[in-house]
Amino acid sequence: MLKAENISYSYDDGTQALKNVNLDVEKGEMVSLLGKNGAGKSTLFLHFNGIYKADSGKIIIDGEELKHDKKSLMKFRQKVGIVFQNPDDQLFAPTVEEDVAFGPLNLGLSQEETQKRVADALKRVDMEGFERKAPHHLSGGQKKRVAIAGILAMQPQIMVLDEPTSGLDPKGASDILKLLYELNDEGMTIIISTHDVDLVPIYSSKVYVISSGEIIKSGTPKEVFGDIDLIRSANLRLPRVAHLFEILDKRDNFDLDGDYPLTISEARRLAVELHNH
Ligand SMILES: Nc1ncnc2c1ncn2[C@@H]1O[C@H](COP(=O)(O)OP(=O)(O)O)[C@@H](O)[C@H]1O
Ligand SMILES: [Mg+2]
Repeated sequence: MLKAENISYSYDDGTQALKNVNLDVEKGEMVSLLGKNGAGKSTLFLHFNGIYKADSGKIIIDGEELKHDKKSLMKFRQKVGIVFQNPDDQLFAPTVEEDVAFGPLNLGLSQEETQKRVADALKRVDMEGFERKAPHHLSGGQKKRVAIAGILAMQPQIMVLDEPTSGLDPKGASDILKLLYELNDEGMTIIISTHDVDLVPIYSSKVYVISSGEIIKSGTPKEVFGDIDLIRSANLRLPRVAHLFEILDKRDNFDLDGDYPLTISEARRLAVELHNH
């Protein structure tokens, strides 16, 4: 569905932000890009709909290479919706409803269809009743939800969200993830970046780890977090639950051999098993 092939990119000041990045996202997947601050997550995402143009390499969507002419960009931006890390970079209209309507109107949809999409999208993110509010008067979490609504209203096939939970309180973060989980369940392909290692195993089907602009590991959450040294070398950490079991295993010799539970429900199952033995 979305492929990055050997993407390299340097900023004008010479910072090489991406080095030969390869990534392959299948239709219907929910993929996490995991990396510490400055690893290259935002830079990579901005390639996915052609905001940045790689120095070398290609982005392929639905088997077609992204080109940087106007027509191609229009087409790809309809397929791939990006929710920026900072909602203030995304929201600019005087009111919430105008902001969410901007994308659909830009696609050339009628007033009627646009209004319907705006209402549906705001309902989806639980922001009904805020139509006439100014985006800059909203809280951080509300801004994020309006930014997501703006992308949803364009009905993209792939939704890319750059650190959708950063800066949110725990309830706000879990509400957003629940929404993404539902959208994914309904068939939308979702790619998110994060450094929240506790949340990643709960919802990701596949994880990529990026460090200094290079993909250093990919696989299921089990495969990725099973490589404990690599996770730590990328300045990340194990999920809290896994770390706890690492400590218990060292103390009590459960012989888990690095195969630690990553989520609370996995931990509960393992605890029952260990108790029964
Ligand atoms: N506009 C820019 N000009 C120069 N360097 C940049 C710019 N934006 C990001 N960088 C650098 O590129 C690297 C990757 O940054 P970024 O993609 O923002 O990382 P992440 O999103 O993972 O935190 C970092 O070293 C960062 O300092
Ligand atoms: Mg970033």
